[in-house]
Amino acid sequence: MANPTYTLITGASSGIGKAIAWYCGSLGMNLILVSLPDEGLSQVANEIAEKHKVKTVYFETDLSKLDAPKEVYTWTQSKGLDINILINDAGVAGASVFEKSDFKYIDDRILVNIRALVMLTRLFLPVLKTHSDSFILNVGSLAGFFPIPYKSLYSASKVFVLYFSKALRCELKGTGVNISVLCPNGVRTNPTTNTRINSHGKVGRITEQSADFVARKGIDGMLKHKFMIIPGGINHFLLLLNKIIPFSVQQKILVREFLKEVKVTCNY
Ligand SMILES: NC(=O)c1ccc[n+]([C@@H]2O[C@H](COP(=O)([O-])OP(=O)(O)OC[C@H]3O[C@@H](n4cnc5c(N)ncnc54)[C@H](OP(=O)(O)O)[C@@H]3O)[C@@H](O)[C@H]2O)c1
Repeated sequence: MANPTYTLITGASSGIGKAIAWYCGSLGMNLILVSLPDEGLSQVANEIAEKHKVKTVYFETDLSKLDAPKEVYTWTQSKGLDINILINDAGVAGASVFEKSDFKYIDDRILVNIRALVMLTRLFLPVLKTHSDSFILNVGSLAGFFPIPYKSLYSASKVFVLYFSKALRCELKGTGVNISVLCPNGVRTNPTTNTRINSHGKVGRITEQSADFVARKGIDGMLKHKFMIIPGGINHFLLLLNKIIPFSVQQKILVREFLKEVKVTCNY
């Protein structure tokens, strides 16, 4: 009998990653779940296994540590786990005045949103290439289409995800490894995100989406080999506005909107 294959999902203990894990489980995929220690990952893994009768294993680590991606890879190899889908969801958002941002805030956005995603992709690519059809889904953000004041690091990290994924997709053409990028807008996933969405009032309310909706769109799009997955018509409309509204006007709107986030989430 052939070895079972697994879908590896980072950031699977909460929010969009957890919704992706549940949806993948419902499709019959075996799962490797990764996120920070002591955040309830074992419970998520056990509940999905029980409900959907799939195999689930988990690995708790802090992906901002330089060795963490290698540890994840080495652990999967030592257990003989064969991976045909890699989903890089783990990420940290947040708004801050750059000049007042502490070094940990800065490091986390670079090390988790960018470095861990790149290293996991690099490490698992040879494994993915052993399959005739395999997938990488990188979770970006609609923020990756806008240079957002007060979210300068976050929006820049998501532009990185977008460009990295796009370029690699071309490099991997013909190898059987398909890369997609999922770009959601506001999703109520944790108390800080809720506060941030609320700070945008009506704009926040009409553009927000549920984690389950985003997860479904992301996985369905990935399995159809789509590259860019932007859930929700309203977000396509926002991207159209991005093309037609002059940059100077956009910046004024973005400063006004994202200063609201800083005011409700930062203590300065
Ligand atoms: N929510 C939104 O509005 C929104 C919009 C667009 C894009 N996104 C993107 O979607 C992804 C998921 O966001 P979310 O809102 O679902 O966030 P979330 O609810 O805070 O979940 C983030 C996940 O990443 C994990 N994680 C964070 N830092 C980590 C670290 N250092 N090491 C290992 N795991 C870590 C968390 O683990 P723990 O639970 O263990 O802390 C959690 O499982 C991110 O890439 C985010 O940028 C979110």
